Amino acid sequence: MYKKPKLELQTTTLWEYPSQHYGEGMQGNKNYKGATPSFVIWNLLQRYTKKGDKVVDPMCGSGTTLDVCRDLGRQGFGFDLQPQRPEIVRADARHLPLESASVDFVFVDPPYSTHLKYSGLPECIGELDADGGGYYEAMEQVIAEMHRVLKPGGHVGLYVSDSWRQDHPFCAIGFELFAQLRKHFTPVDIIAVVRNNRTMKHDHWHKSAALGNYYLRGFNYLFIMRQGDAAPVSPRRAPKPPPLTPVAPPLPRGKQRKKKKHRI
Ligand SMILES: C[S@@+](CC[C@H](N)C(=O)[O-])C[C@H]1O[C@@H](n2cnc3c(N)ncnc32)[C@H](O)[C@@H]1O
Repeated sequence: MYKKPKLELQTTTLWEYPSQHYGEGMQGNKNYKGATPSFVIWNLLQRYTKKGDKVVDPMCGSGTTLDVCRDLGRQGFGFDLQPQRPEIVRADARHLPLESASVDFVFVDPPYSTHLKYSGLPECIGELDADGGGYYEAMEQVIAEMHRVLKPGGHVGLYVSDSWRQDHPFCAIGFELFAQLRKHFTPVDIIAVVRNNRTMKHDHWHKSAALGNYYLRGFNYLFIMRQGDAAPVSPRRAPKPPPLTPVAPPLPRGKQRKKKKHRI
């Protein structure tokens, strides 16, 4: 029987885990279209929060963030226009029923333009096209609201993909949202998360991409930023770095090698 690899802290800027869920059970709901792979949230909470911290997901979907919070002893608060579970509160991510500067971490996995149909409600940002249909204007408001509710020194994680559709212009959603986040927060890092969805396993999708001269989306961006310029909070104790390589003593005068001139 297939056994999932151990869930471990990702240590490079390329994150990969071969399953939507970790452990025996399920975080969120695998049948919810657009559900976030739970190892992404697990990694963020391990690094940027500690036990008891308040974590908010303003577009909570099937509640993956809430389940990871429960596993790690964080207080999770989830909002969405179409709550999938009783503990998710119906709210628009642009107007959260939360006090300013009251939460330690915000994770959000927004719609990627009009790629998936969610509630179909007029307030749903998944109804707005990134190709001039008001998507960025709406996301600007979501990001401003994330900034309002976050405590100084708190962190945000935004998980998103670019958008390419046949007969439409390519939309660099990642770069656009990074620029919007940058107006409010200090960048910490940019992660590429490998997409392990079913689409990537179908041969005919790859054949069509080669024939049609386009690309399948192979990764999602994960932008990590900090509120304000406060020093980064480190809930984990970092291991001691190895000793620095000793610098060679200078050669006696006269024996010094001439510096080579490099041609450009
Ligand atoms: C990519 S899904 C989130 C998936 C979620 N992280 C999970 O693991 O199940 C995007 C979500 O944004 C919600 N959404 C869209 N517009 C919204 C808005 N204005 N306010 C709150 N939620 C919204 C959708 O209903 C959908 O559940």
